[in-house]
Amino acid sequence: MYEIKEIKTTPFDDQKPGTSGLRKPVTTFQQPHYLENFIQSIFDSMDGGVKGKALVVGGDGRFYNRRAIQVIIKMAAANGARLLKIGQNGLLSTPAVSHIIRKYRLYGGIILSASHNPGGPNGDFGVKYNIQNGGPAPEKVTAKIYQKSLEIRRYFIAKGPDIDLQAKGAETKILDTVIEIIDPVDDYAQLMEELFDFDSIRDMIRSGFTMVYDALHAVTGIYAREIFVRRLGAPEKSLRNCDPLPDFGGGHPDPNLKYAAALVREMFSDKAPDFGAASDGDGDRNMILGRHFFVTPSDSLAIIAANVSCAPGYRNRLRGVARSMPTSRAVDHVAEDLGIPCFETPTGWKFFGNLLDAGKITICGEESFGTGSDHIREKDGIWAVLFWLNMLADKRIPVARLVKKHWLKYGRNYYTRHDYEEVDSDAAHKVMKGLEDRLESLRNADFHGRKVVTADNFCYQDPVDGSKSCNQGIRIIFGDGSRIIYRLSGTGTKGATIRIYIEGYTSKKELMEQDTQSFLSELIRLSRTLSKIEELTGRKEPSVIT
Ligand code: G1P
Ligand code: ZN
Repeated sequence: MYEIKEIKTTPFDDQKPGTSGLRKPVTTFQQPHYLENFIQSIFDSMDGGVKGKALVVGGDGRFYNRRAIQVIIKMAAANGARLLKIGQNGLLSTPAVSHIIRKYRLYGGIILSASHNPGGPNGDFGVKYNIQNGGPAPEKVTAKIYQKSLEIRRYFIAKGPDIDLQAKGAETKILDTVIEIIDPVDDYAQLMEELFDFDSIRDMIRSGFTMVYDALHAVTGIYAREIFVRRLGAPEKSLRNCDPLPDFGGGHPDPNLKYAAALVREMFSDKAPDFGAASDGDGDRNMILGRHFFVTPSDSLAIIAANVSCAPGYRNRLRGVARSMPTSRAVDHVAEDLGIPCFETPTGWKFFGNLLDAGKITICGEESFGTGSDHIREKDGIWAVLFWLNMLADKRIPVARLVKKHWLKYGRNYYTRHDYEEVDSDAAHKVMKGLEDRLESLRNADFHGRKVVTADNFCYQDPVDGSKSCNQGIRIIFGDGSRIIYRLSGTGTKGATIRIYIEGYTSKKELMEQDTQSFLSELIRLSRTLSKIEELTGRKEPSVIT
């Protein structure tokens, strides 16, 4: 029924995978041979090709997901793959893919997602390749894929009927390749039951604790229904936007104060439940809210680290923690108190991979709504939500109380991120270059009693393999514990995005409940004058403040 075709093609020059794979507008992927070239390049980058290997494939349900899966199935078969595990209806979250690779010891996985970018025919699409340890392909692998994409002259595809993606449990064969349609949630939900105290959470929910979870019409909807409703007993009405849609209902599936506005409004209303959370397109990000309270991702990381033993899967096994450089130093205080190492890595989850593989850290996170642990090799949205539910079930206090108690013990790291999106690329590079040129003169400078103790461009040396990653962001660190960080985004698809991260610290009780933007106002002003951002970009204000 199926026949192998060798198709002649020519290279595209724009298939260099970034930190989160190849992310482009859907219209780019719709060009003839575009997807096929990239998939063949992934296969060609493997030792001996994909022949005889087992992969898992799934995506966040966005437009083009199903079509791409059919292409990948037929190409993997034509290239001689041994086994493909495919999420039912083409769905699998990024964390679930990471887990399935590890659990079944597969060679790797392909995730179809552009994460939190909008979807639909005019939105974005993406292909991400994860390797054997369950994590995103490291630079040496993505470089090889890119190289193959520049040399490609042919790809192989099986011609024949599409596979039924709905028939869960079904096993079919195309040529020599077994195609298994798997339940996208089951393996993942089982892992969560091993890590967290489901009985205690169920008990809390039964005793009247209320929650809402917003999947923003993306992939975590199916995970939330199975885990929060079916396994933990939350009522169906706790779920918001939990049916995945190809265009995410026209929204931007990013769990932050701007794009999850409806959830935020509900959590700050009179009818607010005890707990609220959301996740992004492919399920690796999370946002945590309490009644009338927003938990910053940096605080969430620190609080999880400080209360790690609430969760059975983590009792007595916190080896170390890690945060990305721009993430607030809240978790550093916890690590210091516990006497465990705290690593500072460049932005991007892949830098945690080596530390996790080497057993140096157990918990890690980023300010950009990413939190995770050594259970997989990706950040994990639903995991973070369950960690919070587990802590709350253990302590039986409101979210806001838990956070404020944490601040009283460790001090509060006020934190905000100001993003300048779609800035002219030349102007953005001028901002960074200007800062770089001024670093020398900033060292030991004093701004109204705030003395600069470090002014540099962050350079990371991986403690496991010794590799160096430099040029990771400008850091200006002051003697009083405050910091201003500047970096250019590596994930935007239009123009350049400048991110300015501003952090201040207090251990004074009377200063702990201030408004973040006002507490940081002086540093915010300084961050703008030091970078000459208005002069160089014409922007008076950031486009997003988190
Ligand atoms: C952003 C976040 C970063 C995260 C990445 C992928 O990257 O800032 O923390 O790892 O998305 O989710 P950026 O656009 O800043 O390069
Ligand atoms: Zn994501």
